[in-house]
Amino acid sequence: MKLPYAEPYRIKAVEAIKPSTRRQREKWIKEAHYNLFNLSSDQVFIDLLTDSGTGSMTDNQWAAIMTGDESYAGAKSFFTLKKTIQTLFGFEYFIPTHQGRAAENVLFSALVKEGDIVPGNSHFDTTKGHIESRKATALDCTIDEAKDTQLEIPFKGEVDVNKLKAVFEKYPKERIPFCVLTITNNSAGGQPVSMKNIRETSELCHSYGIPLLLDSARFAENAYFIKKREAGYGSKTIKQIVKEMYSYADMMTMSAKKDGVVNMGGFIALNSKEVYEAAKRYCISYEGFITYGGMAGRDMNALAVGLDENTEFETLDARMRQVAYLGKLLDRYGVPYQRPAGGHAIFVDAKKMLPNVPKEEFAAQTLAVELYLEAGVRACEIGSILADRDPVTRENRYSDLELTRLAIARRVYTDNHMAVIAAALKNVMARADKITHGYRIVEEAPILRHFTVKLEKIEE
Ligand code: F0G
Repeated sequence: MKLPYAEPYRIKAVEAIKPSTRRQREKWIKEAHYNLFNLSSDQVFIDLLTDSGTGSMTDNQWAAIMTGDESYAGAKSFFTLKKTIQTLFGFEYFIPTHQGRAAENVLFSALVKEGDIVPGNSHFDTTKGHIESRKATALDCTIDEAKDTQLEIPFKGEVDVNKLKAVFEKYPKERIPFCVLTITNNSAGGQPVSMKNIRETSELCHSYGIPLLLDSARFAENAYFIKKREAGYGSKTIKQIVKEMYSYADMMTMSAKKDGVVNMGGFIALNSKEVYEAAKRYCISYEGFITYGGMAGRDMNALAVGLDENTEFETLDARMRQVAYLGKLLDRYGVPYQRPAGGHAIFVDAKKMLPNVPKEEFAAQTLAVELYLEAGVRACEIGSILADRDPVTRENRYSDLELTRLAIARRVYTDNHMAVIAAALKNVMARADKITHGYRIVEEAPILRHFTVKLEKIEE
């Protein structure tokens, strides 16, 4: 008999989680104004809110924490991390920050000004927020295929180079500080971008004199998909693939909380001395001195180990198999999701699952609340609440896709937890015809509203 697959690790520490009753959850979610960010974590059984900062570190990472150098300036940990980043990505300069959005804030302070245009594939919400708060415009040039959740193509997160070219033709280069490619494309469903697309985007950008920025939160998962799905890369190591990906880019912003597998951290890396010098000033004002930015020495040490370990095929393979396993269970139950299964998450198609909820009543949020009520599973809305209002007209931006994201933390839950999630969704689907109303907003922030929004249930 062929032996089944098993994860290449064993577990050294565990954390208790508690199930709850439906009655308890009804009370808690009402008190939370139907916003899952407002729940306390002990009101949640399986937490799929995000894969950001929630992974479990290895024993080697914990060991590296003990040897962190906490010197204010010139800490050894800074140089250790700098060397790892140079080796992996090939960038000369590096600025540590406390997380990904801080890297965006520091870099964009140096590069983005009012009236600018920043095209790319789907900008993550903090990226868009940092562009729009500077009165610039984020233009989404993702391929149209990404909007069809049932279409199965290998690289559904790509940028459409023709759309991008049209932007470069329309606006002068002085108004386009850079183009941003998000790998993997989180907002389009954790979908990857091929090496070919990265290369072609880079060539196009450079022919117009525009730098290419890689938003790199899940770069290692993207490299894994290139290895598995793109011709010519099957026999390359993840590290070789990563090196090639970044050979086409001018700079990167990184939320290390994802593929760095640390609880907190981020950075900017780049080759331009001029941009580095410009960004450095903002690091010192917003984050901290340039050899720690927003990170403790121990955190930089843990990140150096995390980056090295998480660019090994076996580590990534174990994780991707678990996400794919959840996808297979959902297939069995007929639950519609963005196909194929993404890198860090499954994005359930809430419009298809709850067809009776009007678009003004936020189907993806409605599904997230139903899933919580069903099983204490906390998911995240990636739909029209997240899309915010148009900064000019202040109208709601109803997104083409209403997705409920089931983000899987790295090495945290077992396949039995996946089975509970899938069964809970099956149960919600069985009563979908009775779910005819969703929620209305009663309080919201002007930008990044999904974190703090207060909602009210719309009754019959
Ligand atoms: N870029 C991408 C593609 C992201 O997914 C995130 C965060 C960021 C930048 C910002 O990084 O959180 O470290 O400040 N995504 C998290 C998520 C929050 O749940 O997808 P951060």
